Amino acid sequence: MLGNVKNGYSALLGQNYCYIAPALKPYPFQWFWDTCFHVIILARLGEYDLAKRNLRSLFAMQEENGFVGHMIFWHQLLPKRLTDVTQARPTLQALRPHMSALIQPPFAAQALHTLYESCGDRVYLGEMYARVRRHHEWLAKNRDFDGDGLLSIISPFESGMDWKASYDLPLGYTERKTPRRLYTSKLYRKAVGVDLANFLLSYRLDEIKERGRFRVKDAGFNAIYAVDLHCMEKLAVLVGDEPKPFAERRRRVLQSMMTLMYDPGSTAFLDVHEPGSRKIPILTPTIFFPLAIEELDPSIAERILDRHFDDEGEFAAPLPMPSVEMRDPAFFTGETPFIWRGPTWAPTNWFLYHALRKRGFRERAGRLRRALTELVQASGFREYYDPLSGEGHGARDFTWSGLLLDMT
Ligand code: GLC
Repeated sequence: MLGNVKNGYSALLGQNYCYIAPALKPYPFQWFWDTCFHVIILARLGEYDLAKRNLRSLFAMQEENGFVGHMIFWHQLLPKRLTDVTQARPTLQALRPHMSALIQPPFAAQALHTLYESCGDRVYLGEMYARVRRHHEWLAKNRDFDGDGLLSIISPFESGMDWKASYDLPLGYTERKTPRRLYTSKLYRKAVGVDLANFLLSYRLDEIKERGRFRVKDAGFNAIYAVDLHCMEKLAVLVGDEPKPFAERRRRVLQSMMTLMYDPGSTAFLDVHEPGSRKIPILTPTIFFPLAIEELDPSIAERILDRHFDDEGEFAAPLPMPSVEMRDPAFFTGETPFIWRGPTWAPTNWFLYHALRKRGFRERAGRLRRALTELVQASGFREYYDPLSGEGHGARDFTWSGLLLDMT
C-alpha cells in the first residue's frame, strides 16, 4: 500500500496533495471511500501523518456547499475511461484538476473518528470536523430526495459496488446473467446510459430527482450513512458542537429503513427503487448492513442472520461473504469487468465484522475475519476473491485487504 502513495503539487490549485492509489495501474486516481479505508488502515499502522494528508487531500476541492465527488483527478487531463467524462459535469473544468459529480458511501466521519481515536490530534480534528460536517449537510440537503431521511443514489457507481446484482432491475437488465464482455453487453449500455443521461442534465439534482433513470435507496449505503451519523454525534461532542441534528437524522434513517426496506417475507433489508418505493427482491450482503445500526431491534437482526447468513445456498460460501446470494442467476466468481456479482470483497467482511461483533455474534464475525485472512494468505492483496476456491482476481497490489488490520 505504501508503494501506491502519490505525492505532488497542483500548480493550478496552489496545493500539495497526497493520496494512495487503490492499485497503480487500473485505479490511479483518488477515490472517496477508498481514501476512508486507507485512513483507517494507516491509523492502525501508526502512519498518522500520511493518514492526515490523505483525508485532507480528499476534501481539498470540496465545494462551498459541502459537496465532495467520488473521484478526485489531481493532474489527469485526458480521461482514462468514458465514464470519467460522463461522471463529471460537462464543463471545461473537467480539463483541469477536478472532482467527479457522483458520491460514494459516506465513510468520512468514521475515518476521522478512527484517526482521532488513534492519534489524539485535536487541532486536526477541529480542521477536518468542519469539512466533514459540511459534507454531511450537503448529503442531507441534496440527497434525501423524498424527505424520509434516506439518501438516494443516482448511478450504480455511487454505491461503490458498481455492478451490484440488485441494480439489474432498476436498470431494466432482465436477463440477469453476468455478461462476459463489457462493451457489447446490454448491462454495460444500460448503466453507462444512466451516467450519460445525468451528464446531459448537467448533474442538476432537482431535474434528476424528477427525470432520472436510476433512483435507488440502497440498504448498504444508508446503513453506512447511519453509522457515519453516529460518528458525527461523537465527533460533535468532542469539538463542542451540537450532536442532536445527527442523532435525529440517524433515527429517521432507521425508521424509514424499517418502513421502506425491511421485508418480513424475505426477512431482509432490500434496496428500494424509486419512484414508487419498490423493494428489489435480490439478496446481496447489504441485506445485513443495517445490523450495524445500534438501535435496530435485536430480534430482527437475529432473524435475518438465522435465515440467510448460514445458508449454504446463499451466503455461507467456503470463503464468505459472496457479493450476491449464490443461488442468484448473476452469481459469477471469476475474473470479469462486471465486479460485485459473486466474489468476496474486503470491505463487506470488515463492515459486517464490526456490526456482528457489537451485537455479540462473535462466531459469525470470526468466520468473516478468518475467511479474509485465508484469502490474503492464499492469494495476496487482490481486488476481490473467489468465495469458493479462494483464487484472487482483479487488480494486484490492491489496498483494501489492509482492512484486516482493523479487524482485531
Ligand atoms: C471500483 C470499485 C469502487 C472503487 C474503485 C476504486 O470501481 O467498485 O468501489 O472505489 O474501483 O478502487
